[in-house]
Amino acid sequence: MTADPTTRTDLAARHGLSAERMPRHIGIIMDGNGRWAALRGEPRKVGHTAGEAALFDAVEGAIELGVEVLTVWAFSTDNWKRPKAEVSFLMEFNRDLLRRRAHELDARDVRVRFIGRRDPPVPRRVRDEIAWGEDLTADNAGLKLQVAFNYGGRAELADAARRVAEDVAAGRLAASAVDEEALRARLYEPDAADVDLLIRTSGEQRLSNFLLWETAYAELVFTEVLWPDFDREELARCVAAYQGRDRRFGGVRQHAR
Ligand code: IPE
Ligand code: IPE
Ligand code: MG
Repeated sequence: MTADPTTRTDLAARHGLSAERMPRHIGIIMDGNGRWAALRGEPRKVGHTAGEAALFDAVEGAIELGVEVLTVWAFSTDNWKRPKAEVSFLMEFNRDLLRRRAHELDARDVRVRFIGRRDPPVPRRVRDEIAWGEDLTADNAGLKLQVAFNYGGRAELADAARRVAEDVAAGRLAASAVDEEALRARLYEPDAADVDLLIRTSGEQRLSNFLLWETAYAELVFTEVLWPDFDREELARCVAAYQGRDRRFGGVRQHAR
């Protein structure tokens, strides 16, 4: 069934997307910046810089499609293994980007939240910028943009497990009451819906430790496009692939006999 065309945006209409089957939460592993730069004979940081335009076009596309939550992965807990100069560049780049773009996001009613470990070695000035950007946009009611920064899926689960243990030790939670809901409630952003659609660019087909809990039933869409070449049209193509999937959640097809 297709949606009433009058309820669809231009972007959705161009790609034949149904409004009723729009993913509520899209996660993106923004990958391929280094290869994009290498193809042009440029240093890797040129690829990261070029990724900014792709990110903002994807944000606008998500707003246009009526997505509730967009989670983008900017820096992984494993990215500290990269050369020191690249790590420093990425720290400053993300801080600058937030400072330059936060008011624009605010004007678009976007609520920005960061997920990940906010401890050293993330520099204090980066953590301060994160807190400022979150505060500035806290009351917005439009798209929720979750930036995964110093984020690892196992770290998130370990942090949630530690909070469970602290609550049990303090007598706030009975050990026998520890269930899936108790763990979920202690994730970084417990109120966000599970990921419906997970996109990874650059042709790699792995999770690399992204949103392990939240993607339990996500549809995975891999695109060959390198992140700096991504835009809202590619986002819509990924959503079209998602809408062609048959989600079952362990059950049977709704119309199966
Ligand atoms: C993704 O691009 C951005 C970050 C991980 C910060 P990469 O830097 O991983 O680019 P490739 O995978 O080396 O091409
Ligand atoms: C995942 O990409 C992290 C981000 C996109 C921020 P990587 O490029 O670090 O992942 P691997 O090393 O290819 O698995
Ligand atoms: Mg990569």
